[in-house]
Amino acid sequence: MSPKSLKAAGVALAALLSASAALAQAPAPASAPAPTIQSQRLWFGAAWYPEQWPEARWDKDLALMEAAGINVVRVGEFAWSRMEPSEGVYDLDWLERAVRLAEKHHIAVVIGTPTDTPPAWLTKAHPEVLRVDALGHVAEHGGRRQFSYSSPAYRAFCRDIVSRLAARFGRDPNVIGWQVDNEYTDESFDPQTRAMFQDWLKAKYKTLDALNAAWTTAYWSQTYDRWDEVPLNADGGNPGLLLDHRHFVTDTWISYQKTQIDALRAQISPAQFITTNFGGLGWSDNWDHYAVAHDLDVASWDPYVGQGQLDAARNGAVSDFVRGWKRKNYWVMETQPGSVNWAPINTTLDRGEVRAMAWQDIGHGADAVLYWQWRSALNGQEQYHGALVGPDGEPNPVYGEVAKVGREFAKASAAVAGTSPVSDVAILQSYDSRWAIDFQQHSKAYDQLKLLIDWWRPLQEQAQSVDVIEAGQPLDGYKVVFAPSLNVIPDAMGRKLADWVRAGGHLVLGPRSGMKDEFDRLRVERQPGPLVGALGGRVEQYYALDAPVAVEGEAGKGTAAVWAEQLSPKAPDARVILRYGDGPGWLSGQPAAIRRSWGRGTITYLGAWLDPALMGAFEARELSAAGVGPAFGPVPEGVEVMRRTAPDRDVFILINHSPATQTVDVPSGLVDVLAGGAPKPRVALASQGVLVLERPHAR
Ligand code: GLA
Ligand code: GLA
Repeated sequence: MSPKSLKAAGVALAALLSASAALAQAPAPASAPAPTIQSQRLWFGAAWYPEQWPEARWDKDLALMEAAGINVVRVGEFAWSRMEPSEGVYDLDWLERAVRLAEKHHIAVVIGTPTDTPPAWLTKAHPEVLRVDALGHVAEHGGRRQFSYSSPAYRAFCRDIVSRLAARFGRDPNVIGWQVDNEYTDESFDPQTRAMFQDWLKAKYKTLDALNAAWTTAYWSQTYDRWDEVPLNADGGNPGLLLDHRHFVTDTWISYQKTQIDALRAQISPAQFITTNFGGLGWSDNWDHYAVAHDLDVASWDPYVGQGQLDAARNGAVSDFVRGWKRKNYWVMETQPGSVNWAPINTTLDRGEVRAMAWQDIGHGADAVLYWQWRSALNGQEQYHGALVGPDGEPNPVYGEVAKVGREFAKASAAVAGTSPVSDVAILQSYDSRWAIDFQQHSKAYDQLKLLIDWWRPLQEQAQSVDVIEAGQPLDGYKVVFAPSLNVIPDAMGRKLADWVRAGGHLVLGPRSGMKDEFDRLRVERQPGPLVGALGGRVEQYYALDAPVAVEGEAGKGTAAVWAEQLSPKAPDARVILRYGDGPGWLSGQPAAIRRSWGRGTITYLGAWLDPALMGAFEARELSAAGVGPAFGPVPEGVEVMRRTAPDRDVFILINHSPATQTVDVPSGLVDVLAGGAPKPRVALASQGVLVLERPHAR
């Protein structure tokens, strides 16, 4: 960047920050959501740990960041021992100096609260705050997450340090947001937590009779006569108990988080946002991410590849899933600058892949991409992790590619910021369903992420945008909704889905749907439980498969693997649309999918896990029946199209994930955001190539 454009960027940042402070004071009209600092521009950054380095070095680091187009750093999230070197003795001056120096380089700051890593003095003096694992081992200092998430004493320490940070930085013009803790991970099984779980159950069930009935405790003499008899099982316990434990874990992280949110909100400017880093891979399910996201302004997570190359379908599907946590754009708080240190084999992304991945994140709804980490720490558990600069502070090979992304984000920010993905198509997810299946997988091959991706991929290819949202949310605006494996369908959710279909929606349920109620009890209607009536049919039996079976019907011919259900239409107007092929087993010639018109819509049940080609054909028919076409237009295989929309424009992001150059036909009336001007009608897109196109809406 030239000195002139550097200065312009700094002025723009200052203006943005003061504009957002002004906005925060003047309430926006109810119809338009107030623009928020986290979505007003494309943010680009890195995790920076100034506490690990001599202060004399900071300026050079920040200058190198600025030269790479970095406009935000996250700091502080593991620095408790520097912030409070001994109990009640605080030092935040160094952090203030780091924030000021970042400001000089036009780099905004997100402060992470340091509560993932309590200092040694804390756990030495207050060992009761230490976490106990399911086998009874007490955690020790020297790693991270050694605290008990339910400990009132630990929460009091958290409240104190967070309040001091909020008092110091809550009105700081260069601090734009806060990250509470980092990657809520490990629950505790200490006696106090167990007592809290029992109290939580008492509040939920009121009587032991209700709990005993919900969990069917007559099974294996599990009946409880006193609340303090109820165990705290990590796994292998009653599925009703395990499901309630997941809900308790969720509620405990929510209250852990709320302690810090309350401490922040009491003092910080409304222009500063609050998030937490939901962590690596996005798909983890220790707790319900929808519920934990509720109290936050924005969700953020860490798309890491680990071993191998970017799996575009996986990253795309999980990104859409992450966007669904709050049904709005999110932040990528960490991503890999080439490689990580925790995969079985820590391979490095190829040239161009880091850039393609950053743009794929933006395409699916990220407003920020931050690399982990800026510079390799000289010691500590992650010495081998990828970084933008090496231990000597000089750029690593990937720095140049990252700087290119930085320049592109700066160029595209005006077009892309303020837009979000919008889709006619939704996939439904629920943590209860995921947990219920994973407690009793029945086939080790029943990988719910793989199933989600298998359902998502043809939808993304054909509709070019997919929402993945929580089951039970309003479905207004969607033309067709897919539920790949909605195992838990309580009565109320069943009624909502049936009403939506009756009003004209098209619902496609997948295998294992509607088998359980909210207590993880088997439903006596069989599958799909409360939707048996609307479907006019049900599942007679399910079969785990160790070899594919043939399937054939109106969508074509193929196979099913892993899971197959035998369906039976009961209503005269329920139609069989797929059947299993002939064979010696129970499935021979039996229905694999049935459909019925219900009110003004349709409900379809697909009981088999179809091969990708047949699944593509099956979903293509569903989409065209619902009137859903490609948002951009047809593109060659391997090219992914993503769309972000604002009232006045669409922005299309095209990425060639295939190894060969592909030729894309570009409709007229578009602007090439990165190259400037009108694109050619046929664009040759190299492998890992990225095209960002803007289409103003006609007035
Ligand atoms: C054993 C046990 C039964 C039951 C079956 C299931 O035989 O005795 O209680 O668990 O296995 O196969
Ligand atoms: C997580 C953590 C970081 C770091 C990275 C390494 O996302 O939040 O502190 O450990 O993993 O990949």
